[in-house]
Amino acid sequence: MKVSPSILSADFNHLKHELKRIETADFVHLDIMDGHFVPNISFGPDISKQIHDMTTLDADVHLMVTNPLDWVSKFAFSKTKFITIHVEAHAVEQALNQIAKLNIGRGISLRPGTDISALLPYLDKVELVLVMTVEPGFGGQSLIPEMLEKVKTLVALRKAKGYHYQIEADGGINDQNITLCKAAGVDMVVAGSFIMKSVDAAASIKRLK
Ligand code: DX5
Ligand code: ZN
Repeated sequence: MKVSPSILSADFNHLKHELKRIETADFVHLDIMDGHFVPNISFGPDISKQIHDMTTLDADVHLMVTNPLDWVSKFAFSKTKFITIHVEAHAVEQALNQIAKLNIGRGISLRPGTDISALLPYLDKVELVLVMTVEPGFGGQSLIPEMLEKVKTLVALRKAKGYHYQIEADGGINDQNITLCKAAGVDMVVAGSFIMKSVDAAASIKRLK
């Protein structure tokens, strides 16, 4: 299981130390919120660049924004591995094309209330599908177990159609529900509070892996 800790729940007073604590993870997950697509604001490209420069981890960027076309290129750092946009956002196809042009992995995500069928036009054009297991906007919520049915559908579709995306689950993931994620077919998990709030972040990452 690949693990992508969300820095949203980090202690920003000690950012460098927090990044050091998660260096055994596979990615660092950057949650970008515009105050419009979700009722919260996080941090933007400048702080993201500083985070990127402070770690050896590749960046897994999650854009919770209404107009991804305005933002995609601003998060194209040298270690940006994935940029994920939401299917509910504007100009999805153009934004995915823009990500591809930057030689970055294309990710598509959906809110808990959005049906999996909304993803069908894009599944052959993405390297990552991020299934929201909480309502986007805030860390520290509880995983909605029904969302793992979407993961199972994505696994079946990938097999049937020969798609190549990885499946990432995001929100409320911890050592209690990680086996459910694994059983459903998740390849990669985002975990914010479970990792960042634990005393031994490396041990928490290891448990999830
Ligand atoms: C929610 C974000 C998640 C979240 C994960 O809008 O996309 O990445 O911060 O944090 P936890 O693991 O605390 O739910
Ligand atoms: Zn996220």
